[in-house]
Amino acid sequence: MPIGVFDSGIGGLTVFKEIAASFPKVDLYYLGDTARVPYGNKSKTTIIRYSVECASYLYHNYNVDAIVIACNTASSYALDTLREILPIPVIGVVQPGAESAVKVSKNKKIGVIGTSATIKSNSYLETLKSLDKDLEVYQKACPLFVPLVEEGWIDNEVAKLTVKEYLDDLVKTGIDTLILGCTHYPLLKNTIKGLYPHLNIVDSSVAIVEHLKNIKLNIEETGKRKIFITDESHAFDKLKNMLVGDIKTEKIELSDLCSL
Ligand code: DGL
Repeated sequence: MPIGVFDSGIGGLTVFKEIAASFPKVDLYYLGDTARVPYGNKSKTTIIRYSVECASYLYHNYNVDAIVIACNTASSYALDTLREILPIPVIGVVQPGAESAVKVSKNKKIGVIGTSATIKSNSYLETLKSLDKDLEVYQKACPLFVPLVEEGWIDNEVAKLTVKEYLDDLVKTGIDTLILGCTHYPLLKNTIKGLYPHLNIVDSSVAIVEHLKNIKLNIEETGKRKIFITDESHAFDKLKNMLVGDIKTEKIELSDLCSL
């Protein structure tokens, strides 16, 4: 059962890494849309169109049996469309992340951080409320976290100041749990944890693996891993080497991304 994983670019590698570690025998195909990243400041229509193209590429070319949307922005807008048009399971990061948060929060006050598009979509807010209507949910877009991570500034003074600037007020609301609603943010986890050690941090890349374990995949494959990108990217190479080592990256043309 090969699995296709896609993201707007490099962030989904945090999800790919967790899936690869937990399912060593499953064939995994990753597509990072590095030519069109970021999705987080684009419109709903554009995010859906790009997501359909990425998922269709993996489905048609690699015959994947499941698609993981390893991007919170794409999960927030394109999950329903992809489920309608693809005849295979499509799993987004929002539901698993929200479920994990509800499990660990004791005071029912949950913070959500993500790209501007993810926060604007209210995807986490609505999913959390559907799980428990008594939750208090506080959301905050943190758009500068993505370029910080892409620059590799994940634990220096600039990273600490930026985290504090975005999160101090959110933390003051009394949340005991914070959902990292963007695939780049797990790389800032240690910095966030260092500043707010009392918070439960929910990392959607970990949450999605637990979710995949529950849907019982048939894992009799060879453990093949392939990574595709739509444009060369230094940031992608750096993060890929750091997270998943020397898996070869292949560049594909945007014109190869077909529509269903
Ligand atoms: N992968 C995106 C997400 O998880 C962050 C990067 C982007 O804006 O495309 O929301």
